[in-house]
Amino acid sequence: MRELLDRRVLLVTGKGGVGKTTVATSLALEAARRGQRVLLVETAGSNQVPGLFGHGPASYEAQRVAEDLYTLSVTPEKAIEDYIVQQIKVRALFKMVFRNRVMGPFVDGVPGLHDLVQLGKVFDLERETSFGRNIWDLIVVDAPATGHGLTMLDAPRSMMELTVAGPFHENAKLVHELFVDGDKTALILVALPEEMPVNETLDLYERLGAYRPQVRACVLNELHPAPFTALDRWDEARAALSRPELSEALACTDRAVLRARRQEQARRRLSQLPCPLLELPFLYDRRLGERQLGRLGRTLGAS
Ligand SMILES: Nc1ncnc2c1ncn2[C@@H]1O[C@H](COP(=O)(O)OP(=O)(O)O)[C@@H](O)[C@H]1O
Ligand SMILES: [Mg+2]
Repeated sequence: MRELLDRRVLLVTGKGGVGKTTVATSLALEAARRGQRVLLVETAGSNQVPGLFGHGPASYEAQRVAEDLYTLSVTPEKAIEDYIVQQIKVRALFKMVFRNRVMGPFVDGVPGLHDLVQLGKVFDLERETSFGRNIWDLIVVDAPATGHGLTMLDAPRSMMELTVAGPFHENAKLVHELFVDGDKTALILVALPEEMPVNETLDLYERLGAYRPQVRACVLNELHPAPFTALDRWDEARAALSRPELSEALACTDRAVLRARRQEQARRRLSQLPCPLLELPFLYDRRLGERQLGRLGRTLGAS
């Protein structure tokens, strides 16, 4: 874990609903608990993190939500504005030229630009310094759901191919270099212990192509405790117990055994990935807040 948290940027990705925001926040909390100054970046306009800490929605500026933990929400629109203003230096000019009826749709239509500028924003944040020191020890990115997460990672390279030379190209190259630097950046995949989500995770890993070595951990989220360890002997025991007055209890145990077997299978399949498999329990709390996320973070930290 230390090795993972020693990087500059962690990108957390996976299918929608598997627990990306939960894992990103838990990791960020754990790094902050260990004394790092951490920025948790939500992308694609997603804005859930402050709510988990009982705060109002984040803006484009970093907002403190816990000790040593700050968060901000990147939207493609604001990131594009920042990016173009960086190029032309005058914000008023941006508003005049790029946010008008003629140019607006053009800017929005550049393929991959939305993704590129959001990664570009992460790149800018990574380089932010104060008195010669990095402002952020670690940036955790709650990346968009895959499908989309993949195009985002690939955005700098696509832009480099599209432009060949010039400022767009140079910028994309800088951003690309940060995200393929294994010492600085790591990808973390999140999966649920069920057949389809595991298929999707393995498929995502395949499709990552040249980015595969960047995957430094896979988190298997929402594991339930197995009802007992000798799962393979349940069928035998069940036959011996088969009496009408036990049918409800047996059906209940059947379900728990089935789930435990699925989890075992998920664990087996995901351990084929050439990176550590980290496990997180399903928490029965009604709502996951700072306390629960801190607990999950410590579990990850101890793996
Ligand atoms: N380990 C867990 N235990 C209990 N609930 C969880 C766990 N992980 C995620 N959840 C819940 O599942 C839902 C989806 O998680 P979230 O992190 O928002 O997923 P994503 O960001 O991938 O869409 C949320 O309500 C979250 O609180
Ligand atoms: Mg999310």
